[in-house]
This record gives sequence, C-alpha cells and structure tokens, in this order.
Amino acid sequence: MMQRAAVETGRFITFEGGEGSGKSTQAGILANRLTRAGRQVFSTREPGGTPAAEEIREALLSGKVWQYGPFAEALMFSVARADHVENAIGQALLSGKWVVCDRFLDSTRAYQGATAGVPRALINALERITLSGLLPDITFILDIPPEEGLARAAERRGVQVPDRFESQELMLHERVRRAFLDIAEEEPDRCVVIDASQPEAMVAEDVWEVVLNRLSP
Ligand code: TMP
Repeated sequence: MMQRAAVETGRFITFEGGEGSGKSTQAGILANRLTRAGRQVFSTREPGGTPAAEEIREALLSGKVWQYGPFAEALMFSVARADHVENAIGQALLSGKWVVCDRFLDSTRAYQGATAGVPRALINALERITLSGLLPDITFILDIPPEEGLARAAERRGVQVPDRFESQELMLHERVRRAFLDIAEEEPDRCVVIDASQPEAMVAEDVWEVVLNRLSP
C-alpha cells in the first residue's frame, strides 16, 4: 500500500461530472499543458487504468454487473479502483509523475451512493480500503445541465447504443449532478466546480488557472 505522505511525490488531479460534461477532453488538454510545462504526466481513467480494471470496466458498462444490483456495482468499481491505485496511480505518484484521472472516488459516491442508494457508511468503508488515504490534490467537477450533457454524449456516440449509465432516466442524471455539487460543497479545499456549458477553450482556461494557482506546475 502506498504511503504518500512519507515522500515528495507528483500531484494527483481528477475530473468528475455527468455524461457529456467534457471530462475526457479537459483531462487531455490539461495533460498536454502539464507536459508542455515540463511535467511527466500519467493520464488515466476510471473504471480502468490497468489491464484488470479495464476488464472490470467492460463488465460494468455492459450492464452485466447491474443485474446483481447497486451493491455489486459499488464493490466492482472499488475492486477496479484498488487495483488502479495499487498498480498504477500510486507508483506514478511515487515516481514524481502528475496523474490526471478521468473519474475517481467521487463517481462512486455520486452514482452508487447518492443515486443508487448504497449507504454512505459502506461507501466510506470501501474508500478506506481502496484508497489507503490517497485523495486527489484537486478534483474538477465539470457541471452541466443533464439535458445538454446527454445530447453531447449522444452526438459523440453516433449509432452505438448508450451504455448502462447513459441510458438511465433524466431524473437520475439530475441526482448525479446534485450529488457532485454536494461533494464540492462538503470538500471545498479539494473540489472546484467549473461551468462546463462554456466553450471547451474557456473551460480549459478555468481549469488551468486553478492548477496554476494551487499547484504551481
Ligand atoms: P465514462 O462515461 O466517464 O467513461 O464513465 C463510465 C460510467 O461509469 C459513467 O457513466 C459513470 C460510471 N461510474 C460509476 O457509476 N461509478 C464509478 O465509480 C465510476 C468511476 C464510474
């Protein structure tokens, strides 16, 4: 298990938000900027980021795990996260890399916790086990009305069928949005809400300014 506090490490930045909020694009833009600033960057995503976790991703997004209910999903996202932290993120941070991750613990809180009803006590217990105290230095919450985000996601997807999460009802997407905003209110030192309805370049500027001010890359 990684003991991050013991050594000088890289920095850990995560992006969160609903479907079509532009997380992946913004994570990519930030990774490029950090690289240009001379940092070594490890770009990754959840669920996924290691071979084992990518296999779990398949099972989760196809809806195979959903047949066993939200507890099973919370456990499987956590199994994937534990592997990702242990075998990828932790090592990258210890070697001084800046880790940029598309989704992380807050997605489990928002989707399996606040929206699917897995009790907070269980989510907390899973976090203790999977994270070993590791939290992002900054979490960007890309906030967008669900109708707008879902329209963008549909455009991007084209003829492919929506995954298990995209095909949820609008009301559930609204709950996810509220859950992310609540997390940001609870943890203002870690979380920054960004208006993701703005044009991509403006979102990227907002993100970069926060990174410059808080982490001086
Ligand atoms: P993506 O669309 O950002 O690739 O994420 C895949 C889906 O997985 C997304 O709809 C949200 C969902 N998800 C959870 O429900 N819980 C989690 O912990 C994570 C990481 C993702």
